[in-house]
Amino acid sequence: VVTQDSYLVNGELKPWNGQMVNVYSTISSTDEYAPTLLGSIPQLTEKEALEALDAASNAYNKGKGLWPTMKVSDRIACMEKFVEQIKTRREEVVKLLMWEIGKTLPDSEKEFDRTIDYINDTIEDYKQMDRDSAKFEKQDGVFAHIRRGPLGVVLCLAPYNYPLNETFCLLIPALIMGNTAIFKPAKFGVLLMSPLLEAFQNSFPAGVINVIYGRGRTLATPIMQSGKIDVLALIGNSTSAKALQSQHPKSNRLRLVLGLEAKNPAIVLPDADLDLTINECLAGTLSFNGQRCTALKVVYVHEDIAEEFNKKYAEKVDNLLFGNPWDAGVKLTPLPEPGKPAYIQELIDDAKAKGAQIINNRGGETTDNYIFPAVLYPVNKEMRVFEEEQFGPVVPIVPFKDIEEPLDDIADSNYGQQVSLFGKNIHTLSPLIDSLVNLVCRVNLNSSCQRGPDVYPFTGRKDSAVSTLSVHDALRSFSIRTFVASKDN
Ligand code: G3H
Repeated sequence: VVTQDSYLVNGELKPWNGQMVNVYSTISSTDEYAPTLLGSIPQLTEKEALEALDAASNAYNKGKGLWPTMKVSDRIACMEKFVEQIKTRREEVVKLLMWEIGKTLPDSEKEFDRTIDYINDTIEDYKQMDRDSAKFEKQDGVFAHIRRGPLGVVLCLAPYNYPLNETFCLLIPALIMGNTAIFKPAKFGVLLMSPLLEAFQNSFPAGVINVIYGRGRTLATPIMQSGKIDVLALIGNSTSAKALQSQHPKSNRLRLVLGLEAKNPAIVLPDADLDLTINECLAGTLSFNGQRCTALKVVYVHEDIAEEFNKKYAEKVDNLLFGNPWDAGVKLTPLPEPGKPAYIQELIDDAKAKGAQIINNRGGETTDNYIFPAVLYPVNKEMRVFEEEQFGPVVPIVPFKDIEEPLDDIADSNYGQQVSLFGKNIHTLSPLIDSLVNLVCRVNLNSSCQRGPDVYPFTGRKDSAVSTLSVHDALRSFSIRTFVASKDN
């Protein structure tokens, strides 16, 4: 049991004597089902949120603070110290990832290691940026020393599905560029920040990073309403992002770095290599129970091959092993959100009422903390599962005759992150790729959608994202290009 009875503000781990909230895992530690108590966190109030804001604002000090004016090599040294310290907490964090969000052991280890790589790669990219800024340019008699400067104070909110990795994909580039930050961890995946608080405290000057716990509305609203936030960095849903943005009195001045919802489709053409396609679709739809913004959330299959595809895909889904995250070979795990099985059931009921069937034998089997993935066919636009981002274990399959059908749907969708395209004939694929890259930000050929490798731009059109995250791009998303000019006279 992890009792987090302090929060980090202005370089101090402040003891909290107020209300605490219990954190439970939906994984049962006994044979009889009962959620497991993992620990507790402070339920901070507006007062502590504003205290954190003051600390971050003072550390930035209108751009004159120690951190935004610090030598690049010194900021890098702080970051390197931080990496060394968090590396020592791998075991605890991995364990909490499994218990708090039900991520499998290999995926939890991968999340930790990927985060360390991400920080190290960001440091290297930042060094390169610094080398580049040492060069002077001359144009029409004007010398320019172009560099990148911070934006100010960042409010950072991260999601539960990558509570470590996506937190650091926002925080690390924000901090290394000289911004200061207030960070509120996700609702699930909150205790795993506890082992890292001391690393924050030991590595960064006071006020540069402040970590607060509690309800988003209680804490984030007054922070936004203060008008003192320069960057809203959030990975989560667009409703929260829009609400927070609108609370800022001068929202037009706010830089947004947002990773939001997606409804990434797979399009399976008649000549696709079926075995490869099915394996990719299986991983794409159901890795981490479909709780990834990059998951394939709708599968378009050409009607000529739909029967064969459905049969083979449904069989593979039924063979996926459900169990606890640390058990060998397990692919499906308990869902961290207690309300998720009921929501998925609603989507299934709605689709069935409108003419779809569950085509796999185990689809919809429920336990207290799980619902076995249902493969629904044929799905059409009238069904909720066609439109809503399910973010969980249910797979809608939509038959199509003419490729214009999925293309039109993708163009009409509120989202525009990625697409997976399966087929062999390059003459068919080529014009499709040209159309699809104008609708989404990444077209995956004969492979499922994914964010990585982290050096590649990760973004989306429409309601899927604002700004770009990647090792390289995130440094730019959290900074602005400035220059010092002098005349050749
Ligand atoms: O939830 C959204 C994540 O960015 C997905 O990342 O494709 O590496 O699983 P991933």
